[in-house]
Amino acid sequence: MTQRAPILAQARPATTGLTGKIRVPGDKSISHRALMFAALAVGTSRITGLLEGEDVLRTAAAMRALGASVTNHGAGVWSVTGLGLGALQTPDDVLDMGNSGTAARLLCGVLASHDLFAVMTGDASLRRRPMRRVIEPLAASGAMFAARPGDFLPLSVKGAAEAMPLTYRLPVASAQVKSALLLAGLNARGITSIEEPEPTRDHSEHMLRHFGAHLTIEPCGDGRLIRLTGQPELTAADIAVPGDPSSAAFPIVAALLIAGSRITIEAVGLNPLRTGLFTTLQEMGADLSFSHHRIEGGEPVGDITVTASALRGVDVSADRAPSMIDEYPILAIACACAAGPSRLRGLGELRVKESDRLSATLALLQANGAAVSLEGDDLIIAGAVNKLGGGMVETRMDHRLAMSALVLGLAADDPVQIDDARFIDTSFPGFVPLMRSLGATITLADEAA
Ligand code: S3P
Repeated sequence: MTQRAPILAQARPATTGLTGKIRVPGDKSISHRALMFAALAVGTSRITGLLEGEDVLRTAAAMRALGASVTNHGAGVWSVTGLGLGALQTPDDVLDMGNSGTAARLLCGVLASHDLFAVMTGDASLRRRPMRRVIEPLAASGAMFAARPGDFLPLSVKGAAEAMPLTYRLPVASAQVKSALLLAGLNARGITSIEEPEPTRDHSEHMLRHFGAHLTIEPCGDGRLIRLTGQPELTAADIAVPGDPSSAAFPIVAALLIAGSRITIEAVGLNPLRTGLFTTLQEMGADLSFSHHRIEGGEPVGDITVTASALRGVDVSADRAPSMIDEYPILAIACACAAGPSRLRGLGELRVKESDRLSATLALLQANGAAVSLEGDDLIIAGAVNKLGGGMVETRMDHRLAMSALVLGLAADDPVQIDDARFIDTSFPGFVPLMRSLGATITLADEAA
């Protein structure tokens, strides 16, 4: 993907409301985990609704390179045949995880407790993201990591032949670190014990149970204590991946902001540890209604109907961050169009995402006339005081910045341009046609040519 030249894109202010019924691609977090857990289980697992974005395709390729048989049957249906815990093999070549922090960090956990040697790299964005948060705790299992100074990719790992179980309290609320340690603990003899300071997305815990592992989860202070019994018999299991709430966020905010809109998004994952944005938007006055609640593959799923709403500013406390960590750029767009000021607190973790999302979100809004500032790790947005739009946004290899900027262009007074639309495919292939199907005007420079 990164060999293609950058693609300029522009979103124009909508003149009529967005309407229609859509589905968004499969959940990115669940898709990565489905491929990894299935590759560690004995037998063939069938996965439906897998996200076929660049990030997840990297995980599919990595699991194949490690010896699992991974087959794409078309239309989001995949099968994975694993050989069981401990059976992964040394890959022939470097594992390239592209833009995906989740793929890289979770895979470190898998590799740490397998008796193999592997080298991992990623694109320029991923090579700037911190890996110490996983390799430091994982080293206690007996795995030997060597990484670029500062603990950046590329890195090499010599996994432990007989991994020790880990006991660890996470210093930051991170589902990626938690999941990496759980994945390592699967092939360690004994109990792996992880304490998280605040609850973070628990897809790994759901999936571990789904594949037959034994774990206990209990409240611990403001967070949770998770204890996993190592070396279970993981047995193949089928997984239906729900629509990604983090992707649904973009059409949802667009529909809220564009007068006359009413859209429905079907089959969106509604795991309560992922729905902080929906709660926040409702606090801002958003008309969101949820229907057809059901459980699919152990995860809550439902349809969301969105009606354009007059939004007001909001004060979001830091403890909500884990349940909406990827949604701050698009929430910031909603806040810039809302009546009254907003304060989004405790956003330090945004500095180590696909880009430094805190400074990039600030720059996105400033380039388009919004009154916005940073106080420490808090983002302060004045609300709709100025005319918005007219800017060119640097997307910094970050899919969520690209989509947030385009949504701003649909809701603003003047068009918004982005310097590169290519990275949208990492999490939301088909974003532009899907938004157009609702009535949005988004043009890509390579189509205009
Ligand atoms: C993810 C966890 C979050 C999130 C990322 C996906 C996961 O990262 O930002 O997009 O699938 O576990 P952190 O765990 O670093 O907060």
